[in-house]
Amino acid sequence: MNHFLDIHKTDAADLRGIIDSAKAVKNARNGKPKGALDADLPLKDHMVALIFEKPSTRTRVSFDVGVRQMGGQTMVLSGKEMQLGHGETIADTARVLSRYVDMIMIRTFEEQVLLELAEYSDVPVINGLTDRTHPCQIMADILTYEEHRGSIAGKKVVWSGDGNNVCASFIHAAGQFGFDLTFTGPEVLDPEQGFVDLARSKGAKIEIVRDPAEAVAGADLVVTDTWVSMHDAQSARERRHNQLRPYQVNEELMSHANPDALFMHCLPAHRNEEATNVVMDGPNSVIFDEAENRLHAQKAVMRWCLGK
Ligand code: CP
Ligand code: NVA
Repeated sequence: MNHFLDIHKTDAADLRGIIDSAKAVKNARNGKPKGALDADLPLKDHMVALIFEKPSTRTRVSFDVGVRQMGGQTMVLSGKEMQLGHGETIADTARVLSRYVDMIMIRTFEEQVLLELAEYSDVPVINGLTDRTHPCQIMADILTYEEHRGSIAGKKVVWSGDGNNVCASFIHAAGQFGFDLTFTGPEVLDPEQGFVDLARSKGAKIEIVRDPAEAVAGADLVVTDTWVSMHDAQSARERRHNQLRPYQVNEELMSHANPDALFMHCLPAHRNEEATNVVMDGPNSVIFDEAENRLHAQKAVMRWCLGK
């Protein structure tokens, strides 16, 4: 069995295999109704726990639907309602859950919770977002890019805005899938240097460019995310808006990218804040394909976790 904890902790060959399997799994459904079962039922007789310590629409629904399409059953749990939120250790929670379920997906705050759960779990654990990373999102994004434009290797991806958890997983992916990534944003919101160094050590060109127009020049893909993440203090909202406004993705900024550059946003979006509606709803935006591909990419991740 395999845990899916982060892009940089998974072999590059396995990541490529997951993307290719996601493409096959998606094509095999061939317009079937959403509730229809996949032909091979790889999760038949499997029970999957989906634990949420933060809100979610896409992660929650896509994992739930994905497990059911593969013939398994799900149990959606809120961290607050479990003993997890009332002092039971993560290690004991992992030991107990391993006796009941065949796989665990968790969305949490501190990365340490995910890591400890994986350390003491006898069943695969999947990272459904922590304060530091969001690997499932980036698997869906790579799938989406490649469906529209072919291999992402050697392409230029520009992240504009907050160097947050989603940005971190994009940086990890640059190292694993062989694309270049330019970050543009205010210095105080730079991505973690350790993540940048790691991707560089794997041969990725990671650049930090303060001027957004200069950063976006020649981009094949422009990505942004909310200016205030779930783990950020709401009191920081006004300050962050002031810091990030110059990095809004709008028509003017996109005009510096390659004419066929795609636009991505993991959603949920604050429309006309981090990106304008003209860009989000424009012809180069693939935001809803990304959302759909969460389902297909995660089904492939779950198969890989179970060795199926
Ligand atoms: N992109 C994403 O993870 O969305 P949710 O917060 O709705 O799960
Ligand atoms: N950066 C965002 C992503 C949400 C899917 C957050 O952590 O809130």
